[in-house]
Amino acid sequence: MKEIDYSHYLAAVDAIRSSIDFQPEIGLVLGSGLGDLADEVENPIILPYQSLPNWPVSTVSGHKGRLVLGTLYSRKVLVQQGRVHFYEGYAPADLAFAVRVMFLLGIKKLIVTNAAGGVNPNFKAGDVMLISDHIGFPAMVGFNPLAGLNDERFGVRFPDMSQAYDRAYAAKVREITERKNIPLQSGTYVWLSGPTFETPAEIRFLHSIGADAVGMSTVPEVIAARHAGMRVIGFSGITNACSHDGEVKTTHEEVLETADMIGPKIIAILKDLLPQMD
Ligand code: HPA
Repeated sequence: MKEIDYSHYLAAVDAIRSSIDFQPEIGLVLGSGLGDLADEVENPIILPYQSLPNWPVSTVSGHKGRLVLGTLYSRKVLVQQGRVHFYEGYAPADLAFAVRVMFLLGIKKLIVTNAAGGVNPNFKAGDVMLISDHIGFPAMVGFNPLAGLNDERFGVRFPDMSQAYDRAYAAKVREITERKNIPLQSGTYVWLSGPTFETPAEIRFLHSIGADAVGMSTVPEVIAARHAGMRVIGFSGITNACSHDGEVKTTHEEVLETADMIGPKIIAILKDLLPQMD
């Protein structure tokens, strides 16, 4: 993988700017199977990742691989339909490329979504979890998207991560879900590199350290966003209850099928949330 320098981000920023005549305010990253939200965008401008300079291209089924720009619930948005993952062979900085481009485009608010396994035994397939915090395993042991020389144009060398997920936005989400009677879980998301799903011993370990959901994405994006001072909100679609005793298998097909079912629940929340994201 080639090193990314500032000009690589700028080339992608220019390509996007020259395709739109509005200022996007909110960025959304749609995870596995949750891509349907992009269909809600009005007057969409669609930019396949292959058409954008230096853009890392996703290779996974369930990830479309394009940007959709337009109006969503009265807000100007940039929707990333599909993302790249560590297990595809990308370097951690590549996983943050899209978010840094959003930042350079002037986007200051980010909504991230993913499909995740439920580690918390109270979670069931089909649940939506508001991400209250994360554990970034690969990032904790060197695979941090900010590793390497720090570029001050994005942020400081040692960014604070005490409130990675915006508490004021989280309060709005809780208000919306209570008012609309949408069941909502909340908890800590743990990022693992994948692509293997977890062994039962790993699930018990993750549970013991306080993880509620496990997945293979999101954290590098959130790290880059917080580095740049963007406000973040995150949702995990719980696509499967992880097995603590090895009696249940996990498959990608099951993940995609359940994510399809969860998409409308997240859409129902975002419909009310976006207009309130000041
Ligand atoms: N583990 C890791 N990632 C996942 C899972 C899981 O059980 N489900 C969806 N993404």
